[in-house]
Amino acid sequence: MKLLEPLQFGSRVLPNRVVMAPLVRARSDANRAPTELVDIYYAQRATAGLIVTEGCHISPQSTTRANAAAHHTDVQNQAWTRVAAAVHAAGGTIFQQLYHVGRKALLSTLPAGELPVAPSAIEAIGGILTAGQLEPFPVPRALETHEIPAIVDDFRAAVRRAGQAGFDGVEILAANGFLIDQFLRDETNKRTDAYGGSVENRARFLLQVVDAAIDELGAARVGVRISPHFRSDRIGDSDPVRTFSYVAKELDRRGIAYLHMLEGTTHDDEPFVPLYLRLARKPSSASTGPGPVPGDPFLAPILRRLFKGTLILNGGYTRESAEQVITQGLADAVAFGRLYISNPDLPERFRQNAPLTEADPSTYYSGGPRGYIDYPTLNEQRGAAVVA
Ligand SMILES: Cc1cc2nc3c(=O)[nH]c(=O)nc-3n(C[C@H](O)[C@H](O)[C@H](O)COP(=O)(O)O)c2cc1C
Repeated sequence: MKLLEPLQFGSRVLPNRVVMAPLVRARSDANRAPTELVDIYYAQRATAGLIVTEGCHISPQSTTRANAAAHHTDVQNQAWTRVAAAVHAAGGTIFQQLYHVGRKALLSTLPAGELPVAPSAIEAIGGILTAGQLEPFPVPRALETHEIPAIVDDFRAAVRRAGQAGFDGVEILAANGFLIDQFLRDETNKRTDAYGGSVENRARFLLQVVDAAIDELGAARVGVRISPHFRSDRIGDSDPVRTFSYVAKELDRRGIAYLHMLEGTTHDDEPFVPLYLRLARKPSSASTGPGPVPGDPFLAPILRRLFKGTLILNGGYTRESAEQVITQGLADAVAFGRLYISNPDLPERFRQNAPLTEADPSTYYSGGPRGYIDYPTLNEQRGAAVVA
């Protein structure tokens, strides 16, 4: 299978094109430092061509659910150093995903008296379960122009820490309706300064963050994740082709390691179908749930032309559809999210075309080892069957 063939990735060769997608799993301690369970979890998944860690907050201004990870203190840095070492000892390659949630920060976890920040004072729809209750996203305050360079510096500091911790690189999260995405798209960015209005202005914040990351680690150790079709918390763009074509061209010019595109939404209740398969269906049978609506432009072929580096696609892929997009040359690699929660040895299962274990959503953010490090490999499963 092409999916299991090596991939030239900058100066290194990844053993396969199966990427572990970033997944917040809320197994950090009260300091938002990863616990030792996290070392085990990622080391178990080290046969992925590339692991992208869970999104890690870059500052105390970016906080969500309890026990979600961050990387802006020395204590967190020490813990992440352990995690990166565990993955390397198991032979893996690991990039750390870094983000600022912007308007999706929660009042209950922000420093007292602070409001979430955003390009404009427009709140996201929805919220996050805290202590069994849905805590809604509050109306954020619009950032003053002079505050933005300090957030770029927070990203820079987190990238530096990621390098010091031994990560092979960083993935800048410009997707899923978080701060950088809020700047990129015109439904959430109504600014009239140098960070709003034209595509060039809306992309300025992302590109400043990317340039800072390149300064710290070099372009070959920087990836970017985008989700042009993600709309579920009321974020959108009047011309995604124009916006994301500009982004792809600028990232290409900078020679970053990869562009990672999530094609849909991350709603757990929506059966995920890759956009490319949805669009191949008749409109009447297409999903009407959150995510890309029928008729959305399929951006992967456009980005493919504009961005010459590694292109990773994600969103509802299976062994077969992943193989298809790689064979067709639409992607170099495919990232798997939920399948990686429950199948630590995913490339081997793909190789053998073995049955896949389904993930239990009730343990996604539950804390503790259950539903985290106890999903068996195929060998463990078969061993257990023989003993039984
Ligand atoms: C529990 C969970 C946590 C997630 N956390 C992140 C995250 O930290 N960063 C991110 O960019 N996407 C995150 N996502 C989205 C996934 O990376 C992925 O895009 C999504 O699950 C779709 O891929 P899949 O169909 O292969 O699962 C998360 C998804 C789930 C289910």
